[in-house]
Amino acid sequence: MANVAVIGTQWGDEGKGKIVDWLSAQADIIVRFQGGHNAGHTLVVDGQVFKLSLLPSGILRTGKLAVIGNGVVLDPWALAEEIDAVSDRGVKISPENLLVAENTPLILSVHRDLDRIREANAGDARIGTTGRGIGPAYEDKVGRRAVRVADLADTITLESRLRRLLAHHNPLRQGLGADPVDPDSLMAALRDVAPRVLPFAGPAWKVLGKRFRAGDRILFEGAQGSHLDIDYGTYPYVTSSNTLAGAAATGAGLGPAAVGFVLGIVKTYTTRVGEGPFPSELHDGSGHHLATVGRERGTVTGRNRRCGWFDAVLVRQSCVTSGVNGIALTKLDVLDGMKEVKICVGYELDGEFIDDLPVASNRQARVNPVLETLEGWTESTAGARRWADLPAPAIKYIRRIEELIDCPVALLSTSPEREDVICVTNPFSSR
Ligand code: GDP
Ligand code: IMO
Ligand code: MG
Repeated sequence: MANVAVIGTQWGDEGKGKIVDWLSAQADIIVRFQGGHNAGHTLVVDGQVFKLSLLPSGILRTGKLAVIGNGVVLDPWALAEEIDAVSDRGVKISPENLLVAENTPLILSVHRDLDRIREANAGDARIGTTGRGIGPAYEDKVGRRAVRVADLADTITLESRLRRLLAHHNPLRQGLGADPVDPDSLMAALRDVAPRVLPFAGPAWKVLGKRFRAGDRILFEGAQGSHLDIDYGTYPYVTSSNTLAGAAATGAGLGPAAVGFVLGIVKTYTTRVGEGPFPSELHDGSGHHLATVGRERGTVTGRNRRCGWFDAVLVRQSCVTSGVNGIALTKLDVLDGMKEVKICVGYELDGEFIDDLPVASNRQARVNPVLETLEGWTESTAGARRWADLPAPAIKYIRRIEELIDCPVALLSTSPEREDVICVTNPFSSR
């Protein structure tokens, strides 16, 4: 039995939450390993909608351990709020089913401020971040001045960490025209919130290591998508963490062999929130169809998602950079009723055909999508649970995707509901 890592293969919002929720029935432990509350993962259980940002999507099932790994950046106030919101809906959250790695860096008000000030000052060069402080928090982690979960337990350590952090932030804020932060008030706010986080804090690497050796099944839950990855994404229009499957090991505190099967989540078309290149983007009736039928509105910020045809170039690259063993193809039903569907199979750049997205921004900006047209279908695939229920053109479309990305479909999702999944290969039992 393999452990499974779920990662997004596009620009996020591929339907990771739904698939993690479905898979978590078979898992003992579900671990978030990167990102923060920039993520918005939607789960629909018997018509009830849950939107999770920090809590791993396995939290809804009883008898599972949900872990927030050290690769995450954690806003303690956002965590407390999410725990309250989910608990109010009848889900029991206690140290029995939630563990937060004690070496996880915190997102503080200074990070949110910096994120927003920079975006506001950037004009046309803005990234279109979620404004949650993600980038600045990762900067401080790498800059060795972060406040981490364990620091909350000791006043003297916390004070000295805060002094070090503000020695960096206050001059920076002054340069940007913002008021300095008073260490005492930040200290007081942290002491207030500490009791909400500390009961869950512990050595996640140790717990995971022990349970891994005992044969428990671990499900790693990625956030964002491969083309928002800090190294392999459309830089600088990316998030500030590694979103690829390799990050699952370091972001949880296990070796790479603990990640058995890599399941890439793939939307049957492409969406993106925020700025940055998007070669197959649509501004016509087809784009409108995808946006409205697919309800493509951001879970976290409520922004409209940009929509376009399926881009095989991007997903083919993601399958390599994350070592994807199989994909979960989601939102097939959104294409129902389209006369024809198109796939971007490569790009035209300065009169030449290329089958990779160039790294240089000026070249990225000049690529035109090369589209292949396939027949659409009028029948509904919504809620289909058997392969045999799919219309022939839909099957042809799926087969063409598999061929172009050189990776097989393991799961197919046909609605937002938990159980509307066609399982071709069970990732947990396939390796
Ligand atoms: P995530 O960030 O990757 O977890 O994805 P989001 O939750 O942000 O966005 C995916 C959206 O698509 C959510 O509203 C899901 O409920 C919805 N969804 C997931 N799978 C399907 C599907 O197969 N069909 C349809 N119509 N909606 C889906
Ligand atoms: P899930 O897990 C889609 C995008 C933002 C912005 C860029 C940088 O739900 O798929 P950040 O706040 O991270 O510094 O923003 O990344 N972004 C996402 N887009 N889904 C997400 O998460 C995202 N998380 C960040 O819109 O373009
Ligand atoms: Mg999302």
